[in-house]
Amino acid sequence: MWSPNGSVRKYSLCNDPAETDRYEIAVKRDPAGRGGSVDLVDHVAAGDRLEIAAPRNAFDLAPKAPSFVFIAGGIGITPIMSMMRTLNGDGRRYRLVYLTRSREHTAFAAELEDDAFRGKVLVHHDEGDPQRSYDLWPVLEKPSPAHVYCCGPRPLLEAVRDMTGHWPQSAIHFESFVDAGAAAKADDKPFVVRLARSGERITVAPGMSILEAMRAHGHDAPSSCESGTCGTCRASLLEGEADHRDMVLMDDEKDRQIMICVSRALTPEIAIDR
Ligand code: FES
Repeated sequence: MWSPNGSVRKYSLCNDPAETDRYEIAVKRDPAGRGGSVDLVDHVAAGDRLEIAAPRNAFDLAPKAPSFVFIAGGIGITPIMSMMRTLNGDGRRYRLVYLTRSREHTAFAAELEDDAFRGKVLVHHDEGDPQRSYDLWPVLEKPSPAHVYCCGPRPLLEAVRDMTGHWPQSAIHFESFVDAGAAAKADDKPFVVRLARSGERITVAPGMSILEAMRAHGHDAPSSCESGTCGTCRASLLEGEADHRDMVLMDDEKDRQIMICVSRALTPEIAIDR
């Protein structure tokens, strides 16, 4: 979606996909962000027309899963609202653990009290106090045939990933609502990525992803989430050691593959099959 100031941002659709006459989004105004949400919230009014691109789905419901565990942090509830509304229509079971700071910071608080969600939703407020964080271990301790979907800030995703190592990894799904910059670290160093097909060597500066560096040099590559959660940008790692920062790769894939939207290099140079 293009904001009035020309910035382009991706937002999750929240409504039931069966509703084909409109798209519903929820945007958290984030003064600490890059400006897209503030511009949208402050400068768009009812009746305005905005330019959008066609929706893409990198976080889809497993069609054959018998049941679902949803874990949402903050505005990460948005894609999960759409999923739950779908499931309310087809009768499959789910439960939601929704973690927010307070009721004032809880999107869809009133909707989630509707009969359609009764008995399926647990909303926990920590009031900004880490001591009051919700303990997800009892939810995830015993693997089941359910699929787990988690959307929220990166620390929540990492906590759920750490608690689901004993689940079938194909049943664990992540989406981050922040961009690849959230995976950056203050001590990131530049490194070189060699594109094996052409032999071109490209320097990846701190604060830039391999994907962005490739694009800056005229090479395109498929991508979708650009936050290390969907798997679209997967590339073969041919040489060097990767600093994996994605939520997708299994341990036994990490020697040979890399998600180029977020991951970096531990060696001064890596080579990928691009
Ligand atoms: S584009 Fe989704 S993991 Fe890289």
